[in-house]
Amino acid sequence: MTDKPSRRLVLKGVALGALAGSLRAFSAEAAAAPAADGIFGYGVASGDPTGDAVIIWTRATPPPSGGRIATPGSGLGRPVCVHWEVARDQRFRHIVKRGTVYTNASTDHTVKVDVTGLQPYTRYFYRFHADGETSAIGRTQTAPDDGHRLHALRFGVVSCSNYTDGYFSAYRALGGRDDLDFVLHLGDYIYEGGNQPEPVGVRDHIPPVEILSLTDYRLRHAQHKADPDLALAHRQHPWITIFDDHEVADNAWDTGAGNHTEGQEGSFAARRRDAYRAYLEWMPFRLPEQRIVPHQGIRFFRRFGFGPLGDLSVLETRQNRSAQVDLPPFSTSGGGLIPIGFDPAVDAQLADPARHLVEPEQLAWLKATTAREGKPWHLIGNQVVFSPIRFPGAAIGAPPALTMINSDQWDGYQADQSALLSHLTAQPSGAGDTVVLTGDIHSSWAIDLPGSAGVEFVTPSVTSNGFYEIVRGQLPPGTPPEAAVTATHGLVAALRAANPGIRYLDGIGHGYTLIDVTPDRVQADFHHTPVPTSALPNPRAIPSTTTSYATSWQTLAGSRKLTPATGPVGPRTDNPA
Ligand SMILES: [Fe+2]
Repeated sequence: MTDKPSRRLVLKGVALGALAGSLRAFSAEAAAAPAADGIFGYGVASGDPTGDAVIIWTRATPPPSGGRIATPGSGLGRPVCVHWEVARDQRFRHIVKRGTVYTNASTDHTVKVDVTGLQPYTRYFYRFHADGETSAIGRTQTAPDDGHRLHALRFGVVSCSNYTDGYFSAYRALGGRDDLDFVLHLGDYIYEGGNQPEPVGVRDHIPPVEILSLTDYRLRHAQHKADPDLALAHRQHPWITIFDDHEVADNAWDTGAGNHTEGQEGSFAARRRDAYRAYLEWMPFRLPEQRIVPHQGIRFFRRFGFGPLGDLSVLETRQNRSAQVDLPPFSTSGGGLIPIGFDPAVDAQLADPARHLVEPEQLAWLKATTAREGKPWHLIGNQVVFSPIRFPGAAIGAPPALTMINSDQWDGYQADQSALLSHLTAQPSGAGDTVVLTGDIHSSWAIDLPGSAGVEFVTPSVTSNGFYEIVRGQLPPGTPPEAAVTATHGLVAALRAANPGIRYLDGIGHGYTLIDVTPDRVQADFHHTPVPTSALPNPRAIPSTTTSYATSWQTLAGSRKLTPATGPVGPRTDNPA
């Protein structure tokens, strides 16, 4: 979802650049601070849990040499020898795995170990040693993928964490939970933009300008790893992550992005290569097996198993996507709202089977994994909204006769969308039910997919501007938050009236979604930051803001439809070893 000013219609973001204000000064010391804070100043993380393996991660900053600090992206610093340990207990009395790895400036001194030979559905602790220093202790666990044994599954879902938009209260809340198998991040973990003028920008980005180079992307990732709330969430849980557009540039497609000017900002191909490299260095992501998979580019999409309960397919929808429909006068520059049923040329391009959101190989892989007998659930981790959503013109400031779709979502790739919807609808009941988990649109949704394809839960943004902030930005300056809340409710009501499949939609809260999976049902609990008021106009700007439970929706096994749930999930009845 773009945060850039719109060339055309509303719902495309506040005109940030037009707001008065000055950029705060960039502090070079701030970027270097965690690097100066000991060898392991960027914390620890783990990820991509399987039944017998998990990735553990850190950055080992070499001690300063000649007064020069090996700041991320600097290319400075000698190689570092790192010892790692994985234990069953926090005191490391029962160490089950240990080893030694070397890191150097070629990987920005990041360390990534795929620890194998572990027991399924088991909690572990890990730490690193180098040059006489020891890292923080990380907690992780393997997936409940235990052959034929059924285990519970519970995880947090997040997306869209723009550092400049606020503090990461959702990450702090997840870090404080003791009942999660993992955290699923569906993209926009970093944003590529520079600082925003006050009062829109709450915190400063590092570097302060739009990131373009490998050094820039490494620094931006490092800044996030140094955030205390995010560091806590990484230290306490394994994460499963996939990028969306902002990890490279806004509204990206295979050869460009809405927020990339070819030439002036270098080549998009080089920029994307550097962005992917920094992502793979700085995220606890299992390095893709490029040799054995025929694929156009890097194989980022992957699947996680949870034994007899089902599995999670994590899609990647940017690397090979066709350019968004862009026919003048509906020029969307890589995504935006465009009318349907108005210009036959637009409709034809939207339906063109040669245009893809996911390349044919990935769609075939996904279909194959949603056609397996005997497991109740198939979860799909996905970036942009999958359900067909119609935006009535009157609700968004467009001519009332128009009906709009978001060309950056699956709606902009209708051949792929209908192919997958048809495939899911055609699955016999014994093949299990599909639950699509989505981010990107900075708002909370529970949606019945058309026919009997399944359901979709959309998680709100951690911080990034949502409907409320966009609506408020279009109201006269000085409009009280309460009036903007009312206007946002009006927009939500209009969207719901035009889309009967939407069972729940909140455009105000930021936060996370808790997903709880049992053989009988999948429940989503939405957790939100407070509703803005005149006394608290921007809760995201307060470091101590907390999220609280908002509402729950569920889908019962075999129903392929949503029903309200009576309340938040209780304590787990089935805990990992
Ligand atoms: Fe986003």
